[in-house]
Amino acid sequence: MHCVRKIAENVFWVGVNERHNPFFENIYPVPEGYSCNSYLILDEKTVLTDTVGPDLGEMFFGNIEHVLGGRKIDYVIVNHMEPDHCSMLGRLAEKYPDAVFVGNQKTAVMAGQFFDEKIQSRFMIVKEGDSLSIGKRTLRFYMAPMVHWPETMVTYDEAERILYSADAFGTFGSINGNLFADEDGFDMDSARVYYTNIVGKYGLQTAALLKKMEALSIDILCPLHGPVWRKNIEVFEGKYRLWSRYEPEDRAVVIAYASIYGNTEHAAERLAFKLGELGVKGVKMYDLSRVDPSKVLAEAFRCSHIVLASSTYNNGLFTPMEVLLNDLKAHNFQNRTVAVIENGTWAPASGKLMLEALSCMKNITILRDPISIKSSLKEQGAQAIDELAGEIALSLNQ
Ligand code: FEO
Repeated sequence: MHCVRKIAENVFWVGVNERHNPFFENIYPVPEGYSCNSYLILDEKTVLTDTVGPDLGEMFFGNIEHVLGGRKIDYVIVNHMEPDHCSMLGRLAEKYPDAVFVGNQKTAVMAGQFFDEKIQSRFMIVKEGDSLSIGKRTLRFYMAPMVHWPETMVTYDEAERILYSADAFGTFGSINGNLFADEDGFDMDSARVYYTNIVGKYGLQTAALLKKMEALSIDILCPLHGPVWRKNIEVFEGKYRLWSRYEPEDRAVVIAYASIYGNTEHAAERLAFKLGELGVKGVKMYDLSRVDPSKVLAEAFRCSHIVLASSTYNNGLFTPMEVLLNDLKAHNFQNRTVAVIENGTWAPASGKLMLEALSCMKNITILRDPISIKSSLKEQGAQAIDELAGEIALSLNQ
């Protein structure tokens, strides 16, 4: 059984969708699955770029055997050693004993850690700007450390102007037949969730890769997850520029709340409705007990303003808010305007704790002192919420 698609003349997608594992990296919910992309180039030499994740071998080997049509594999380029891409290296080494693995020094060391150490001796080590001639094509290698692991690199096919971009420009969601981003409406939300959670911490390193890409003419962009880009690549690159600089895409508000019995939620609701009354469009509300933090993190990257509302719990933060704040900090969240609403029945503490957490993040503008609610929203609290809505509306227009 095989399931492949042609990318360009003698270049094929030979990846596999992961539709059974409910989580990516065993933590991020992926209800629509994700694709592990691998590509096979047929020239005077045959070249496979990356492989797939665990348990996907049957379809993967069916794909590559079909495209090879009886030829052997000459080179296996390892752009990234995370197991969602490298899990088949051990089997490839056995099945194709003459294949040469191509990677940098760190790649080879990691391969020896994940597989039999002898695999290291099969590696051809490449450095920044090195090239490999495979016939009509020359492949050139550029290092992309920490996008997303230290060994990550990208490979550029100078003849076809194809960039094999590793984790950069990846997207969650299985590929449902439409391999190209222009074929069936690209889901930028899934791309944003992917970027922010997987690569978001490494904005500087992503910006460095974007800089290298400026010197290349790229007709086709082949990431390790999600659709392949052959049109309007600059649209996706533009998003990456913003994300890598931690700049918002939209002047918009996201309200993230952690509410135990609904009273903190009422405050969030009041704020959202007041903002609507003031003409603010596109307000998003997220109940952190129900929505995965990976989605809220992505929304926080998209929007210019975020309101955090949390109950006090065990004299600390209600756990879902603590999780979100840890996530924001871990992903270098910065450059945003934030407002804080706390709730507590006998000793509200969540406001102070949210501010403490925010103080560890760069360039965060706090709109006003935390609004403090005792148990439920009363007249005084409601008035403060209404004032906050006015301040946010004003700030959005600045
Ligand atoms: Fe898709 Fe960093 O692995």
